[in-house]
Amino acid sequence: MLCIYRQQTLHIDGVALERIVDAVGTPCFVYSRAALEANWQSYERAFGARRHRVCYAVKANDNLSVIRTLARLGSGFDIVSGGELERVLAAGADAEDVVFSGVGKTAVEIEQALSAGVGCLNVESTVEVERISAIAERLGRVARLAVRVNPDVDARTHPYISTGLRDNKFGVPIGDATELYRRIAEDPHLQAHGIACHIGSQLTDATPVVEAVSHVVRLAETLAGEGIVLEHVDIGGGLGIRYEDEQPPAVADYIAAVLAVIPERYTVVVEPGRSIAGPAGVLLTRVEYLKRTATRNFVIVDAAMNDLLRPALYDAWHDVLPVRESDEAEARIDCDIVGPVCESGDWLARGRTLAVSPNDVLCIRDTGAYGFVMASNYNARLKPAVVLVEGDQFRVIRSRETIEALYGDERELLED
Ligand code: LLP
Repeated sequence: MLCIYRQQTLHIDGVALERIVDAVGTPCFVYSRAALEANWQSYERAFGARRHRVCYAVKANDNLSVIRTLARLGSGFDIVSGGELERVLAAGADAEDVVFSGVGKTAVEIEQALSAGVGCLNVESTVEVERISAIAERLGRVARLAVRVNPDVDARTHPYISTGLRDNKFGVPIGDATELYRRIAEDPHLQAHGIACHIGSQLTDATPVVEAVSHVVRLAETLAGEGIVLEHVDIGGGLGIRYEDEQPPAVADYIAAVLAVIPERYTVVVEPGRSIAGPAGVLLTRVEYLKRTATRNFVIVDAAMNDLLRPALYDAWHDVLPVRESDEAEARIDCDIVGPVCESGDWLARGRTLAVSPNDVLCIRDTGAYGFVMASNYNARLKPAVVLVEGDQFRVIRSRETIEALYGDERELLED
């Protein structure tokens, strides 16, 4: 459990969240270094003696200090854009430890990746392979590839984050993959290095993943029979976390289940994002108003859908705790926690029962993944500050955005 009350005030590790609020203000994301490290280590340990690489999915939380924290543990990284590549390199990671996923890599991004020497490009179509081949030839490089196979398996998660079905835009249909590997194998600028799949996110059951990986392994074995011998099997990310009452498998059990269907001679790559960063972070927000209407109590806070989009976009549930615990059980009200943005979809939590008064600070849990990275400037709102707790210390790892930064170069480009 990341947050605990001591003397009725919520702490992360050795730091009272009130100290952070006093120093930094709200809204503010807070991450725990210890939790990030422990979550990453749980993957590392789960592999035991098996050859493997844990490639943290940067899209979940791309703060440079988060990336560096994991790079220092020896993490690899899963990226999906040139911007993420720049972040990983800026944080001091090695391009060799990077896998580049994504269905729409531009020519510029491919050139950037090959020039930097990324470990592997996960390709998602024949046309993408053609593009990479031409760029590799021009640069005089050999591109290492893994085909991301679409195994047509239902991950049984939210439709927006389900990716392994035939109708999704992702991956190469499993029936077309053999042809594509033959194409790669005969190209001097390409090397067939691995095979990949990723069927969705917030998965609470290992069964569909085991099924998908079994299909992928069968294909790899068939290819080996043709002389196309792959070194690694990339099982993607996707392991879910407990936001409300979900019961995802423990990392060790999940990895053990998948390893059981992968022959020992393959290196196993895993791309976890949410399960490393999600439970390691919270969003702190201050109550501005209590607005009571005939039918509802609205707790209007200073964070909004532009800071945390998941509730608005996926109807996602995040637990909410008051930073200072109240003794007065009778002060509890049924309420919706909403932001100031001009949209009815701007809510952070609905149907909660909380003791809450104006000026209180609330802690929105499990927001370390897909929180800040999905933030926007909608309503000309500044992106929140970000803090990292390290033991009984904390430090700002991203300052609250300034109005100047918000303008970009718009002011210089104003006409008289
Ligand atoms: N690998 C690939 C190819 C992916 O597409 C993803 C996530 C991951 C790894 C990491 O998955 P994770 O371990 O984090 O589940 N914004 C959504 C989640 C989108 C996930 C997209 N792909 C949310 O807030 O729930």
